[in-house]
Amino acid sequence: MAVLPKEVLENLISTQCKVFVDATVGGAGHALGVLDRNRKLHFIGIDRDQEALDRAEKTLERYSDRVTLLRGNFRDLKEMLHGIGVSSIDGILFDLGISSYQLAGGRGFSFKDDEELDMRMDTRDVLTAYEIVNSYRQDEIARILYEYGEEWQSRKIAKAIFDRRKKDRIRTARELADIILAVKKKTGKIHPATKTFQALRIAVNDELASLAGGMDAAVDLLSPGGRIGVITFHSLEDRMVKQRFRSDEALTVLTRKAIKPGIEEIRSNPRSRSAKLRIAEKI
Ligand SMILES: C[S@@+](CC[C@H](N)C(=O)[O-])C[C@H]1O[C@@H](n2cnc3c(N)ncnc32)[C@H](O)[C@@H]1O
Repeated sequence: MAVLPKEVLENLISTQCKVFVDATVGGAGHALGVLDRNRKLHFIGIDRDQEALDRAEKTLERYSDRVTLLRGNFRDLKEMLHGIGVSSIDGILFDLGISSYQLAGGRGFSFKDDEELDMRMDTRDVLTAYEIVNSYRQDEIARILYEYGEEWQSRKIAKAIFDRRKKDRIRTARELADIILAVKKKTGKIHPATKTFQALRIAVNDELASLAGGMDAAVDLLSPGGRIGVITFHSLEDRMVKQRFRSDEALTVLTRKAIKPGIEEIRSNPRSRSAKLRIAEKI
């Protein structure tokens, strides 16, 4: 289910929008709204995950004459668009993180998952969560958990992972979650493994560097008056977006405060709980 759908359409899609890029097409929820709202624009949907693209292709079948789908990391946006002869765009959306399909898809993204720890969005990539957990040094694991998960018990968890590794390999997401549960108490509603899983996913998919590169490319490609919107789900990313927008003289920030979902949306789509949308316009 698309997050902040109304807010995305109202702020990013105008009648002047001729070429729109959805850099994270995923389940094509936003895509459908965009294609319905402006019946003339050409829609370019990007994803690193082939399964997401296959699904999007089916969902968007009736709009196929206005849709181009591309597989790749949005960090390579310029090259991807140049490859299809596009050098300027009127709007772009980044809806970050993973989709509910990926969370349920057996690649070890969820700590309830009894599948091998993989966590790759693009299965052509080499690095997996299994590799990090079973072969990185203890201090490297602790750094990843601290930097990408803001996990203040990073050292304790890294030690528990390391101790277990001496006996046996850690194969599944659930095994890893159980190791964390044994050393970190559950307080409140959030599962103790949440931050570790976020950190590993960010490391496996090089998410922060991809975001930085993707935003740079997007701002260069935007035509004057064109808009960029980014939906984030945790503070690390939100801080990056806020600073990137603020520090760029080619942009006017349209959201002094991030747009957040209302109570109704959170009730019907709990995944939207931590979403923040920031928008800027190219001068
Ligand atoms: C939250 S989902 C997007 C949901 C979509 N907006 C919808 O309405 O259904 C995020 C998608 O972005 C993709 N993704 C994440 N990082 C990416 C990157 N650096 N390059 C390309 N796709 C990426 C993921 O594979 C996932 O399918």
